[in-house]
Amino acid sequence: MAKIGFQLNGEEISLDCEVDEILLDVLREKLGLTGVKEGCGQGECGACTVIMDGVAVNSCLVLMNQVAGCEVTTIEGVKQNGKESAVQKAFVEEGAVQCGYCTPGMVLSAEALLDKNPNPDEKEIRTAIAGNLCRCTGYSKIVAGIQKAVQIRQKERNDDI
Ligand code: FES
Ligand code: FES
Repeated sequence: MAKIGFQLNGEEISLDCEVDEILLDVLREKLGLTGVKEGCGQGECGACTVIMDGVAVNSCLVLMNQVAGCEVTTIEGVKQNGKESAVQKAFVEEGAVQCGYCTPGMVLSAEALLDKNPNPDEKEIRTAIAGNLCRCTGYSKIVAGIQKAVQIRQKERNDDI
């Protein structure tokens, strides 16, 4: 057992856990963050995606000793000042959600993309969500949602100037 400290959704936390515990299990079972979904449990589906130090990763493949000192964001930490993020708003507006199982992971992959590349083309969007499987939507509405989020983010930036 070790004490592992990291930043979770903007707050410093410290947890007693085994160094080889899986981040997905810790988030869901010890911390109650059930927005992080478990699909395949082996890095194939992206349902468990979180952002770790700015990069979208499959939390089912991350061990707790890799998390020490990192910044982790789950879907529960995506809201900005208590309001939906641009990506969340755009997914709703474009009807990019059906059963919703893939949605937290999709949103986080999109957030990580747009934080790095605020104006991606369609190919870059499709590449960014290539590791996130969706059984329902056929992906077109998800791509449209991310394109809409680009516009919403641009408008929010302009409004701030
Ligand atoms: S549950 Fe992690 S990639 Fe499928
Ligand atoms: S909305 Fe159902 S898996 Fe994507």
